[in-house]
Formats: sequence, structure tokens, C-alpha cells
Amino acid sequence: MLDLQALAVTHGSPLLLFSSETFRLRYQELQSALPQVKHHYALKALPYEECIRVIQRCDGHLDVASIGEMNLVKATAPEMLARCIYTHPIKTKRDIESALEMGVNVLVADNRYEIEKLLPYKNRVKLLLRVAFPNPEARCDLSAKFGATMDEIKNLIRLSLTNGIHLQGISFHVGSQMTDPQSHIRAIQATRIIYNWCEEQYELKLPVLNIGGGFPARLDASIPTITDFCQPIRECLDELFPGTELWSEPGRCLAADSMAAISQVIGKTVKNKRFWYYLNDGVYNTFSGKIYDHAEYVHEPLSKQNRGELFMSVLAGPTCDSIDVLKENMLLPEMEIGDLFLTKQVGAYGWASRTDFNQLEQTKIVNVDFDLLSLQERKLPSKVPSNYAYLRSPFTQTCA
Ligand SMILES: Cc1ncc(COP(=O)(O)O)c(C=O)c1O
Repeated sequence: MLDLQALAVTHGSPLLLFSSETFRLRYQELQSALPQVKHHYALKALPYEECIRVIQRCDGHLDVASIGEMNLVKATAPEMLARCIYTHPIKTKRDIESALEMGVNVLVADNRYEIEKLLPYKNRVKLLLRVAFPNPEARCDLSAKFGATMDEIKNLIRLSLTNGIHLQGISFHVGSQMTDPQSHIRAIQATRIIYNWCEEQYELKLPVLNIGGGFPARLDASIPTITDFCQPIRECLDELFPGTELWSEPGRCLAADSMAAISQVIGKTVKNKRFWYYLNDGVYNTFSGKIYDHAEYVHEPLSKQNRGELFMSVLAGPTCDSIDVLKENMLLPEMEIGDLFLTKQVGAYGWASRTDFNQLEQTKIVNVDFDLLSLQERKLPSKVPSNYAYLRSPFTQTCA
């Protein structure tokens, strides 16, 4: 068992642990669940160089959303640029030229203005057209911002073909952290209609279908395993798209489990009958997913395993902003300044959207070589038990 306390002493805190082993396991699970698909890891979820190296070792592919991400690939494993697709539907002329210079030539568009931008480069570009499948139930409904409607997509296909653009196929994103595969299935069925229309209208078999991301990270036991989630998708693809090259863009389901955070109590007070603990990591840093990604992290006290009475407590981050609060109602034993917390599954869209607010020190990342999910969990009740006498004021308790 890893000594997290010792790691925090050696490297300081806050501290992030990245496990290439966990990342590799998640990639291989997805690969076995959907073996007929070329998975392009969506680097935006966790734009960390070790992720690129794992994907390279697994012979995988990458989905990049910006020139900055391509530069990271170039600096880490330049050979991987040939395995990148550039999926942001909106690009500047400079973005397009830089991507092509780096050898990234599969690009995505979802409107006529974007297709027009690509015309000067049409001999070098392979185009995916993105269709929208709105999904208000998704954790992030990505079709609210991007993707053409089913009607518009026909016009875009026509525009691309009449202008001699090399059309690779259709892509979509049904929304992030889906827990029911039906959204993917409905989208695959709907895109089949577009592919049939293309065959009838233009005698063109589009060579690629890109089913995007949306595969869930298993944040609790109610979420299906990736194998169970993908099984009906696999069957649907086999039935409707035999012979078509299939791609995906998984982000969260690979990244989430691969990073854990160790933070430390740096301050403590009592307010409104609650203990407040101020940690040295917060929503402006590693836990930014609480703001940008609707994330609810599970913070486990490391040093006080099942010890003593539990008190209703508030966990807050280190910055001077009052939005920087991690948990309002958490049952915890009394913590002391210096005590540590472990937060697992922080890898997706948290570190990626950290900020420099208050100019706090950048959090160090340590690479570890074991599966982070094997770290022991503490069993604290997450809800107040019904027989739990509502907290004596900790203030009364400590001062009486
Ligand atoms: C175009 C595109 N592809 C893939 C992803 C990754 O999605 P997920 O993390 O849900 O797998 C995103 C997320 O924003 C995206 O915008």
C-alpha cells in the first residue's frame, strides 16, 4: 500500500498523482469493449504528456481541439501528430494552416462558413461533418453549441462535394458522461439515414463514422462498466455500419480515474455550528470541474480513519473567493491543521481547467505506477444517519 503521507512529505501538497497504469487499463477496457473502433483520446480532458505516451504505447490515436494541444503532442511524441484528428468545428485560417503544417489533416466543420474557410486547402483536407443530437440529460450537452441539424447536414454534404472537398464522413457527440447507451444508439441509427442518402444521391459510400465521446467514467457503482455500456453500441455498429471505418473520441472515461489529489488542511474555524476546514486546493485549481464540469468530488480524510465523533463540516479551498467551497455539508471527524485529504477520480476536466487565480503555486504531478483505484477508501456516511443527534455545536463542544 502506498504511503500517501510520505509522498506528501516528500513532494509537498497540494499534490497530484497520475497513474499511466490506470490510464492504460481504461484504454484497454474500452478497446476490448469496442474492438472495431479506432479510439482517439480527447486530449482536452487531461492534456498531460504521459497520457500521450500511453496512447502511443497502446498504438492508439488522439483527438485535438487546438494548436496548443497539437504543440503538446509535437513536444511529447511528434510521431503521434500523424494519428491526430482536429475536431474543433470552429477554426481560424491560422489554425487550419498550422494544423496542416504539422501533418494533421482530418478536420471537422458544422456550417457553410467553416467549409468556405477550408476551400483554399481542399486538396489537403479530409473533412468530417458534425451533426447535432441535442441531449439535455447529458452532463454536458455538447450539441447545444455545435453540430448541424439533420436537414442542414445534407446541404453541407452537397456544398462539400460540389466544391471537391474530400469528405471522410460524419461525426457527432451525444453529450458527456452518458450512463445509458441509448443516446449513442439513436445517433448511430440516425447517421445511417445520412449515409444511405449519400449513397442514393451521390453513389458515395462515406468511408468513416466518428461516434465521438460521451462514454462514462465509473464514478459510482450505479454507473455501468464500460463493457456493459458498450455492448449494445458494438452490436448496433456491427449491424448498421459493417465495412465502415469507425472512430471515437473518448475523454472522460480514460482520464477521470487516472489522477488523484492529495490536499492538506491549512486553516480551521467554527461558523454557524460547523467546522470549516480550508484546504490548499480548491475550485480554482484541481477541483475546477465543480464549476465547469458539474463534478462532485469525494474527499476522503486520510489520517483520521473512522476515528471519533463525526461533525457536520464545510470544506473550502484556499483562495479568497467565497465560491471556492468544495462541500457544504460533510460529516467528518474533527480535523487538525496539517491533516490530509485524498480525492480520487479528479483526472477529467479538472486539472485541464485550473486557473492562476490568486497566483497560488502550480500543483506538482507525481507519476505513480499502480492503479489509483486500488487506493483504499474510507467508509464515512455520506448522508446524516436518521438516528444522528443533530450536531452539538463544535464550538460548544470545544469550549465548554
Ligand atoms: C469534439 C469532442 N470530442 C470528444 C470529447 C470528449 O468527450 P467525453 O469526455 O465525454 O468523452 C469532447 C468533449 O468536450 C468534444 O468536445
